[in-house]
Amino acid sequence: MIVILDFGSQYTQLLARRIRELGVYCEIHPYDAPVEAIRAKTPSGIVLSGGPSSLADGNGVRSEDLTPLPHPGVFMLGVPILGVCYGHQVLAKVLGGKVKKTSKREFGLAKLSLERSAGLFDGVEPKLDVWMSHGDEVTAMPFGFVPLGSTENAPFAAIANVHKKLYGLQFHPEVSHTKYGGKIIQNFILEVCQAEPNWRMKTFIDDAAAQIAEEAGQARVLVALSGGVDSSVAARLVHKAVGKQLIAVFVDTGLLKADETERIRRVFGKLLEDSLVMIDAKDRFFSALKGVTEPEKKRKIIGHLFGRIFEETASQYKDLRYLVQGTLYPDVIESGKSVSGKAHVIKTHHNVGGLPDDLKLKLLEPLRHLFKDEVRQVGRELGLSDEILGRHPFPGPGFAVRIIGEVTPERAEILQKADAIIEEEVRRAGYYDRIWQMFPVLLGVQSVGVMGDARSYKDVVAFRAVESTDGMTADWAKIPHDLLGAISRRIVNEIPAVSRVVYDITSKPPATIEWE
Ligand code: XMP
Repeated sequence: MIVILDFGSQYTQLLARRIRELGVYCEIHPYDAPVEAIRAKTPSGIVLSGGPSSLADGNGVRSEDLTPLPHPGVFMLGVPILGVCYGHQVLAKVLGGKVKKTSKREFGLAKLSLERSAGLFDGVEPKLDVWMSHGDEVTAMPFGFVPLGSTENAPFAAIANVHKKLYGLQFHPEVSHTKYGGKIIQNFILEVCQAEPNWRMKTFIDDAAAQIAEEAGQARVLVALSGGVDSSVAARLVHKAVGKQLIAVFVDTGLLKADETERIRRVFGKLLEDSLVMIDAKDRFFSALKGVTEPEKKRKIIGHLFGRIFEETASQYKDLRYLVQGTLYPDVIESGKSVSGKAHVIKTHHNVGGLPDDLKLKLLEPLRHLFKDEVRQVGRELGLSDEILGRHPFPGPGFAVRIIGEVTPERAEILQKADAIIEEEVRRAGYYDRIWQMFPVLLGVQSVGVMGDARSYKDVVAFRAVESTDGMTADWAKIPHDLLGAISRRIVNEIPAVSRVVYDITSKPPATIEWE
């Protein structure tokens, strides 16, 4: 495996992705991870990431006191090291070179002229575009290093101590703008480090299943199955590991997509066999939400009721000791500024959806080392269909946060119908995979219409569709007018309670994706 020491670059996760794409497992650790912890991983190589800090002399502070540096023992482990951007400067400075603030900062593309390959640039053209983003530069190399390449403003843009297998790159090979960036990373990982490209989802599944089985022993394991990608894959993986000891609880709140219960039964009935526990809690949710209009109150009520239902279910099994959560790697990685950064598969506390602490369940997070697309691959290997793996995200409180005002079964049914029409039309038009999330919102506003010869006065539905990569920011989706027209026409024609459809054209920020 490869260890990446994170100095806080926005590209650190991208580095990890590039390495895993080569079939080599890697983990991101904080820059100051203890050297014993790194040695214990027996890495084939170490990558020092970029970062926002400065090591330059003469910047008014004693830089060593304030700037992040790795444990010096890292350089004595005898494994190949690649420093990228700030990591390049760390390598140079720690080993005796010089780093200075440059008068000619480079941001964006620069032309790298190669002098020698040193194994790192095998198969790469002698002049190539590279992506730079730096205000400091290496002005003197440490003893034993040779220059591999330079740009107009950075004489030591690529350096190496070939004998010790230490390499430094001022540019970012992990970003797609760097031509041959993938090849350079591949040369370092597979040729210099001689790492085995044996990280396959099949291997991951077998290892993770064995670990889970060993940890759980004879105890039962509970998973809250929402039908989303992460909980579905986690449930399937744990089921492979512990079989009937798994209890996969699916709660029908009445606030889910139309036919969700049937879908879950159809998809998971076979895959999870006897482990699947379906709970019809529609009446409980609607009666708990009766008369409630305030968004935060709705969320709290729903969270608590979920907790209570899981607790009731859990109390039926006295040998229940574990709770599965579909946490992913991006939620686990601690930033370059952090000191601990311990990433274990198993933790001993939990903080999930309203579950009371005295349940004392241990948390199993079998996906905590995976990126989202790796989770999808695992799901595919485990027999889950694209119907589940390609799904848009769906919020825990479901339609409750898409019904402005009181949540009633009648109003939820209007949304289920509108939602089904939207999904059908968007899929038919081939737009489903280009959209992050889409849904109708019941505004609680009535509007005048004319239907046949009669005046009507009925509900307005807003249609929201957004493009996003992580849900943190989003833009309204520029879907074709014909498609909008078809959706509007069908909603008004097929749902008698609705007289008008409007399209939400607000980005996030300033709006949020959900309306409540
Ligand atoms: P917002 O509305 O905050 O949504 O822009 C960002 C993403 O989070 C989802 N979301 C939730 N998911 N429980 C969830 O499980 C919630 O309470 C919740 N609120 C928002 C939302 O659907 C979007 O993907």
